[in-house]
Order: sequence, then structure tokens, then C-alpha cells
Amino acid sequence: MKLLEARIREDGLVLPGNVLKVNSFLNHQIDPELMNTIGQEFAHLFRDDNITRILTVESSGIAPAIMTGLALHVPVLFARKTKSSTMNNSLYTADVYSYTKKVTNKISVDQKFLLADDNVLIIDDFLANGQAVSGLLEICRQAQANVAGVGIVVEKAFQTGGQLLRDQGVRLESLAQIASFADDQVHFVGEVVE
Ligand code: G4P
Ligand code: NA
Ligand code: NA
Repeated sequence: MKLLEARIREDGLVLPGNVLKVNSFLNHQIDPELMNTIGQEFAHLFRDDNITRILTVESSGIAPAIMTGLALHVPVLFARKTKSSTMNNSLYTADVYSYTKKVTNKISVDQKFLLADDNVLIIDDFLANGQAVSGLLEICRQAQANVAGVGIVVEKAFQTGGQLLRDQGVRLESLAQIASFADDQVHFVGEVVE
């Protein structure tokens, strides 16, 4: 998605440790018009897949997920990282290990919002090592819901997540794919070097 790549080039900041800071439009301040365009793009990619529900994980996945749900006219469910006091029902849970933070988080969703006849589209902001998406896939497995695919805003293609998912036969659609941060610049997969 050229618009997204241009925005990453313009506003993204490469931090030490191969981290892209996109706080001005995705991870802190949110650009609703860009998110809307992103949601429409995911909706277009999965328009023939009879998606019944969007699944993401809080917090940064929610913005692109909600715009996708709006475009596809389906509900958006986000897994929680901390148990809310109003979550008294039975839960599906999965452990998500964060390589960046070196901690394991438990994510959970209320069983009543994810059904065996659901056809789920998983959305997230970043794909790095794929642990968050793997946790969401595990939750769908527990619910016996079908996963139509995974939509990612920014895939760091030099990390293992993309391969991990494709090896499992998961359909993965990434709107921007970063090949490297060489020389502290963002290099996209397939970009022509002039
Ligand atoms: P993984 O799920 O792909 O294995 O990711 P990893 O553990 O490496 O990353 C942990 C967190 O860092 C996730 O957000 C992930 O979205 C985010 N992340 C990974 N790489 C980048 C990056 O280059 N830039 C930015 N901005 N974020 C990155 P989180 O901490 O779980 O939560 P939240 O921000 O959604 O609340
Ligand atoms: Na995320
Ligand atoms: Na994040």
C-alpha cells in the first residue's frame, strides 16, 4: 500500500533494536483517515471470504481492526492482556511471549463472543516474531472457529513471524513489508533502489 509506505517514510523513526516508531499515526496518536483507508484495503482483500468477525489484541491492533470491521460490517473482538473485572464468563486464553519485552502475557477473550461457526479475520498493527498472532490463532482453535486469514499493517519481513504463519498455511496479507532498517532507513520489500 503506497500511501502507507509513504507515511512510514515520512513519519516513521528507526530506533535501536530494529524497532520502527510510528507514534504519530498508529501506536499513540492515530490518524483516523489513514486507518479508514487501511480498513477498506483489508475489507477489499477479504471481500469474498464471508468474514463474520474481526479478532485483534489490545491495544494497538484495535484501530485498524475497527476500521476493517466497519468496512465489512462485522463485529470487532479484541483479546485482553489483563483480565477485566467484568469478565466473569468462561474464557479462551493463550500465552504470548514478547521477544522485545521478554515477558509472557496471557491474552483472553470471552467464549460467548467467538463461535464455532465464525469465519475470523485476524488483524494486528505489527508482525515481528508472530507471537501475538499465534496466540490469536490458538484462541480461534479453542473456539473451533475458522480463520480466513491474517491482515497486518506493518510486517517486519526480516523477522520470523511471516514465515511462521505461511508455513502453517495461514493466508497473510501485509500492507507494508519492511525488508530492513539498514543505515537507519526503512527499506520495503520489492522497492527499487535508484
Ligand atoms: P510478535 O507478536 O510479532 O512476536 O511481536 P513482539 O513480541 O516482537 O512485539 C511485542 C510488541 O511490540 C507488540 O505490541 C508488537 O506489535 C510491537 N512491535 C514489534 N515490533 C515493532 C516495531 O518495530 N515497532 C512498533 N511500534 N511496535 C512493534 P504490544 O506491546 O503487544 O502492544 P500494543 O502496542 O499493541 O499495546
Ligand atoms: Na499489536
Ligand atoms: Na504495538
